[in-house]
Formats: sequence, C-alpha cells, structure tokens
Amino acid sequence: MYPNGTPRQAKISHLVTHGSEPALRGILLGYPRLKNAHGAPISLPLSACRPASTMAKLDILEFPDPRLRLEAKPVEAFDSRLRQLADDMLETMYEAPGIGLAATQVNEQKRLLVIDVSENHDAPMVLVNPELLDARGSEVCQEGCLSFPGVFADVERKEWIRVKAQDVSGKPLEIETDGLLAVCIQHEMDHLIGKVFVDYLSPLKRSLLLRKLEKQRRKAG
Ligand code: NI
Repeated sequence: MYPNGTPRQAKISHLVTHGSEPALRGILLGYPRLKNAHGAPISLPLSACRPASTMAKLDILEFPDPRLRLEAKPVEAFDSRLRQLADDMLETMYEAPGIGLAATQVNEQKRLLVIDVSENHDAPMVLVNPELLDARGSEVCQEGCLSFPGVFADVERKEWIRVKAQDVSGKPLEIETDGLLAVCIQHEMDHLIGKVFVDYLSPLKRSLLLRKLEKQRRKAG
C-alpha cells in the first residue's frame, strides 16, 4: 500500500522482545524503542539488523496478473525461510517505496504481510496468519497499491480493528488500532484472499482508474 494520511498510535499487546538472534531484530512487531544513555530514542535502521547482502529485492506482481487473485495458505513453518522472505519483503516494500506488502504480491501464497506506517520508516511489522477479531466504524481513505503503480482511489474501510496474528517466530500477537495502520492492515489482509482495492470501486470508477493505470504504464515505458 502507498502512504496517505497520518499514522495514529497502535495499541499492541503481547509484545515480543528480541531474541538473541540479531537477524530477528527490527522485523518483530512492535519492537521496543531503543534508548541511548541520555534517554533519547535511537532508531534502528533495517540495514543494522541484517547484513544488506543477505536481503534481496523481490518482483512485485502488477494488476491484472492472475496470481494476485490466488488465496494464501496459513503459515505452518516458522523457519529461516520465512524470516528471509519477511526480510526480503520489507526491503522490497521500503525500496518501492510503500507502507505495506502482502506475500501474495511477491507470488508467495502464504498468509504473511509486512507493514511500516511510521514517519521515519523505522517500525517494521511482520504479521503472520492475521485474523480479524473485531471491527467498528467506517472511514474513507485514499489508497494506493504497489501492484497498481501510480493510481489512487478512495476506499471505505473499518475505522477501528482488532487483529490477532503471529510474529515471524510464531509468537501470538494482538493488535488494536485505528487510522492509517488499521487501513493498511485491512488492505494487505485483502491481498491474502486475492482481493485488491479496486474491487471496492463502482464499475465506472474502476474502469477510469484502470485506464489511468494503463496510461501510467505507457509513460513509464
Ligand atoms: Ni496493495
């Protein structure tokens, strides 16, 4: 997903702490803010978490690739391959640049998504097997999607959501949030069931947007 709007504070429970394995750092959901000796926050760039050479940028599928319609399967193996995929997805998302990416978009049919709605791009989240537990209200937000480069549309979403998921090592998490993070989680969870944001548009708005997408593509060469 592309950014638009202001992130609000998410309430994240069952916070996971760092394991001793440095490779895990920074890709765990809601990792605690690090502070220096003077109490000032230290931001931990992703590049500090893992040697850059082990990360790889992945190809993002673009609409109307039929693989965007495939349904993802639950993740059962919380192994080094999953961690590598999550790392690669984060790198791909940051480079795009975007604020969310679902495994479906990189042709992996796994219930896995990565998100970072922070201003400084220093709060990566990895959600595995996300499930919506509760949702309230509605709000309209302008959304974009890395599988639809250069086009945006207003989409109505739930304003507040409660989601359970697992982190990349399989630990359970629960998130209550609203604002941009809530919108982004809903957008990315849709990808896991083969749904994309233009599916919410009226036939007319949808065809206008897809025509614009074609134009953007021709411009990009
Ligand atoms: Ni998307």
